[in-house]
Amino acid sequence: MRRTLGALRGGTIGGLIAIPLVLSFATGCPELWDIINGNTNTNTNVNTNSAANENVNENINANTTGNSGLTGKYVGSTRCSLCHVNKHTDWSETLHAKALEALEAIGQGSNAECVGCHTVGFGEVGGFVNRATTNDLASVGCEACHGPGGDHVSNIEDATKRPVVSISASVCGACHTGEHQPNYEDWQTSRHGQMQESLKEEFTAGTNAATCGLCHSGDVFVADHEGETIAADYLKGIPPEELNPVVCAVCHSPHKRTGNAAAPDEGRDYQLRFPQVKFTTPSNVLADAINPDRFNLCGQCHHARNRVWTDSSREPHPSDQVNVFFGEMPLPDADQTPIVAVRPSVHLNAPEQCSTCHVFRKPIEEGIAPAVSGHTFMVNFEACAACHSSAEIAENKLAILGAEIDYRAGLVEDALNEWALSHDVQGKGVLSWEFTSEGGPSSSGQAKIPNAIKKARYIFYYVIQGGGNGAHNPDYVRDALQTALEYVETNPDLLP
Ligand code: HEC
Ligand code: HEC
Ligand code: HEC
Ligand code: HEC
Ligand code: HEC
Ligand code: HEC
Ligand code: HEC
Ligand code: HEC
Ligand code: HEC
Repeated sequence: MRRTLGALRGGTIGGLIAIPLVLSFATGCPELWDIINGNTNTNTNVNTNSAANENVNENINANTTGNSGLTGKYVGSTRCSLCHVNKHTDWSETLHAKALEALEAIGQGSNAECVGCHTVGFGEVGGFVNRATTNDLASVGCEACHGPGGDHVSNIEDATKRPVVSISASVCGACHTGEHQPNYEDWQTSRHGQMQESLKEEFTAGTNAATCGLCHSGDVFVADHEGETIAADYLKGIPPEELNPVVCAVCHSPHKRTGNAAAPDEGRDYQLRFPQVKFTTPSNVLADAINPDRFNLCGQCHHARNRVWTDSSREPHPSDQVNVFFGEMPLPDADQTPIVAVRPSVHLNAPEQCSTCHVFRKPIEEGIAPAVSGHTFMVNFEACAACHSSAEIAENKLAILGAEIDYRAGLVEDALNEWALSHDVQGKGVLSWEFTSEGGPSSSGQAKIPNAIKKARYIFYYVIQGGGNGAHNPDYVRDALQTALEYVETNPDLLP
């Protein structure tokens, strides 16, 4: 007896419906099972003389659609929809599901140079040929990302024959590549396309996945997002070169339109997993500062970690851009006295918030400039022109602001150094004010550092690492550095 899928999965299979029904067709009704299996007999016959048939079809009616050419390796997205109903419904509303229409709309629907990335398996045995014979392989269907599904649909219960589920950027990179859509190449050069070597070693060795992995590992991020429980050894044993950094599927839902784009123009949705824009009331409460639900897509990871000014072993993590943007700074639960006044950014209303400046896109213009995909995530000054008259004016403004921030940061650093030289702790000299990890005193020495110095050094690192040279929140960064300077120069804590 075959085990039923109900027994296999306790009767509930997430996102799948009607499987027991399909299987009862399989055992009870051979004709229907044949239909579900893709009419294999008829198919092979048609396929052997397909060349002739295609011509006939095209001559009779260019719009004829059919699936006589499905030979079994690729079975087509309609077939997957029999069981993966929700996924198919979601997918059918994406631009991927209409990718061949985009070619047909400009009369290129059968141009072999174009069809490859706009269909499933074109050029392969059993892959897309044309609408007349392989219509279910038109556009970027399920099997474009999951590989051929023929073995899976004829062996549903065999877990070894299931299609590949991979979040590797190379899956998307097979098509999102080249001068017209260089998203993959651009991403590869970005820091999102890389992973710190030390973290690779730790993940492979079976540590830190549940902590550092939440932002540094694409595998952990996606699994966590889908509700899986993440243990510290979640990535144990995976070869370092197979660990996924911040890949495409971290930011993009592979299957559905989400409505999360700031301003979906002409049906562009971008399938973003999180809202591109989110306004939140600034808060200095630690639990808020580290809570991704308060933040936009980029703020899912570019938010503070749980360090406050009373911590002495390490400086704040350099990931607090979204907190600086909103003008907030976490405080110890035991002492909620603000050390810098809350102050949201003048750039808060940039139409796509972070992506306005960091994911600036420019489509291909016929024969002129190559497309700019924005996927290096570097600031593009052309993005500033909408508000600052021109890219040059904005760039100059930033240079002036940057110089000012540098100068102010220099004053804070000088004051801290001066304090350190005159209050030498554990023989650390000029490093006496520093965090332990930065060469400062050990924990017993840290206890001798006054609170005013601890506040000043925390503020210093916090805004230098997260401030984007001042651009993230110019006035907040100014205020913060001014306040830090005052802590060192005029604070009563420091008087003998
Ligand atoms: C007759 C029903 C049926 C059809 C048709 C079907 N699947 Fe599945 N599929 C299943 C079942 C059952 C599972 C296992 C469910 C589970 O473990 O959650 C599965 C699992 C999968 C998985 C997950 C594998 C994993 O390791 O998690 C993918 C991906 C998948 N199917 C893709 C497809 C694609 C693509 C098609 C069409 C080419 C397709 N399926 C057609 C029933 C079906
Ligand atoms: C290397 C794979 C690849 C090839 C080859 C390819 N395309 Fe595309 N095409 C894509 C991708 C990926 C997109 C999505 C681009 C985006 O949204 O950034 C796309 C999008 C498009 C669009 C929609 C543009 C829009 O803004 O909505 C059209 C039209 C198009 N391609 C036409 C063509 C034509 C014509 C050819 C042949 C000369 C061609 N493509 C060849 C991968 C390809
Ligand atoms: C653009 C690429 C792409 C297309 C097209 C695509 N998938 Fe996926 N699919 C993925 C990726 C990446 C994952 C893993 C990440 C995730 O689940 O978000 C995945 C995961 C899955 C899973 C297993 C995990 C889960 O969420 O249940 C199933 C089942 C699945 N896809 C079925 C389908 C079916 C059926 C279709 C067509 C209707 C389809 N996929 C189309 C890329 C794609
Ligand atoms: C078989 C080639 C192919 C693969 C593989 C592929 N894409 Fe696409 N993708 C396209 C084409 C072609 C379009 C443009 C469709 C159109 O405009 O009609 C597109 C469009 C998109 C869009 C724009 C959607 C919108 O609403 O603006 C996003 C985002 C996207 N793809 C992301 C991905 C991701 C993420 C993956 C991998 C998980 C992936 N793609 C895999 C070919 C592909
Ligand atoms: C809340 C998300 C988050 C968590 C959790 C996290 N990081 Fe990071 N980390 C980031 C971001 C974002 C950056 C990039 C910041 C930048 O370069 O401006 C970063 C940068 C780094 C860097 C590069 C530092 C540099 O100065 O360029 C290292 C090393 C690092 N993280 C290690 C770790 C380790 C180890 C852990 C776990 C103990 C960890 N991270 C946990 C988000 C996080
Ligand atoms: C850190 C988040 C992030 C990652 C990682 C990412 N994207 Fe995007 N992507 C975005 C955002 C945000 C937009 C919307 C840009 C806009 O509003 O103009 C976008 C837009 C797109 C678009 C549609 C606009 C265009 O460029 O034509 C495509 C296609 C796309 N991404 C593909 C990819 C692919 C392929 C990868 C992996 C190689 C990837 N993305 C990785 C955030 C990301
Ligand atoms: C899944 C978590 C995650 C998300 C979401 C994310 N990032 Fe990142 N980002 C990181 C990590 C981790 C790094 C550092 C990688 C490294 O150096 O190992 C980083 C690095 C960067 C850098 C390079 C910083 C530097 O010092 O050079 C920029 C810029 C950046 N991200 C911008 C963005 C933008 C803009 C978005 C939203 C569109 C975004 N990120 C979304 C995790 C994330
Ligand atoms: C949505 C509109 C908008 C965009 C886009 C925008 N800015 Fe601004 N920016 C403002 C406003 C409003 C101010 C405050 C008034 C002023 O100083 O011009 C400002 C102020 C500034 C300041 C001066 C801060 C100070 O107080 O000295 C700098 C520097 C700056 N922006 C740089 C940039 C750069 C660089 C970009 C692009 C990467 C950019 N801006 C994009 C609206 C914008
Ligand atoms: C007004 C344009 C603008 C906006 C909006 C913006 N950034 Fe930046 N960002 C910059 C500039 C300018 C730099 C400094 C780059 C330089 O000097 O080359 C920067 C630098 C960065 C860096 C590198 C490390 C650092 O902090 O200096 C990261 C990471 C980053 N931004 C992430 C973000 C995130 C996340 C958001 C949204 C919360 C965001 N940015 C919003 C303009 C912007």
